[in-house]
Amino acid sequence: MRFIIITSCGNSIALAQDVARRLKVAYSPLTISAFPDGDVYLRFKAKLQGETLVIVHSFQPEPNMSLFNVIFAAETAKDLGAKKVILVAPYLAFMRQDKRFHPGEAVSSKIMAKLLSGSVDQLITFDTHLHRYHSLKEVFCIPARNLTANMLLAAYIKKKFRNLVIIGPDEESYQWAEEIAKVVQCPVTCFKKTRYSSRKVAVKMVKTIPLKGKNVVIVDDVISTGHTVVEAAKEAYHLGAKRVDAVAVHGLFAETAMTKLKKAKIKTITTTNTIKHKTNKIDVADLIGKALS
Ligand code: R5P
Repeated sequence: MRFIIITSCGNSIALAQDVARRLKVAYSPLTISAFPDGDVYLRFKAKLQGETLVIVHSFQPEPNMSLFNVIFAAETAKDLGAKKVILVAPYLAFMRQDKRFHPGEAVSSKIMAKLLSGSVDQLITFDTHLHRYHSLKEVFCIPARNLTANMLLAAYIKKKFRNLVIIGPDEESYQWAEEIAKVVQCPVTCFKKTRYSSRKVAVKMVKTIPLKGKNVVIVDDVISTGHTVVEAAKEAYHLGAKRVDAVAVHGLFAETAMTKLKKAKIKTITTTNTIKHKTNKIDVADLIGKALS
């Protein structure tokens, strides 16, 4: 299959180019700017008639504009004759609002999925937030694949750390913490997290495991405000850990997350390149390439 790979709004350009190189297909940049009154201006350089278009675009930073721009790009591509539009969203935003937590709230994940399903033909993403949903099929009515970077995280942790215990900072994260620990062959546990608000959480150990003198690696799918990892690190140090590091798939680092993480004496923070950030040390390009082949 011939692909043209583009990015929208500038997110994931390096990743898109790398995937294009691996697949030996063309990378074609897309112009997105604004008219003087602020209306979006969008233009494809590539000829799209009869082609399959792959949009590689992470929904961070600027999740709201990402959604808007991806829809504009996909609709334009179809209008220009593209046969199929595949969206690779290495990080897909809105999925954490998967229910109405308070009366009157938007269930953002459903709205986002409805809008994307109307404009793209296929979706590929990574370690998306599937806590109350069991599968992307519950929200998307187009073929949607949720890839996982867990084995890449496991390989990184195995190479980098010794004498370690892996901790999932909340009960949901135990599933991937356990998978990673199996590969690393080390003890694993998780904390129980109580979330009071989007900026306040508390954690405590439920499945007790000795941490004294151990190197603890906290693994999570998302680091957003950093509060979850910070509280987990504090608890690990309180329980005698010698050193705490954090490894996550998606590093959003909202607000002052990095400062908080540093204050909590987390030695290193490592993420994948699903969202471009200086902590990226784990590359998902190969997995995207394989999923598209
Ligand atoms: C929650 O369910 C996720 O797995 C993460 O633990 C959470 O999204 C992290 O958010 P924050 O960094 O804001 O605590």
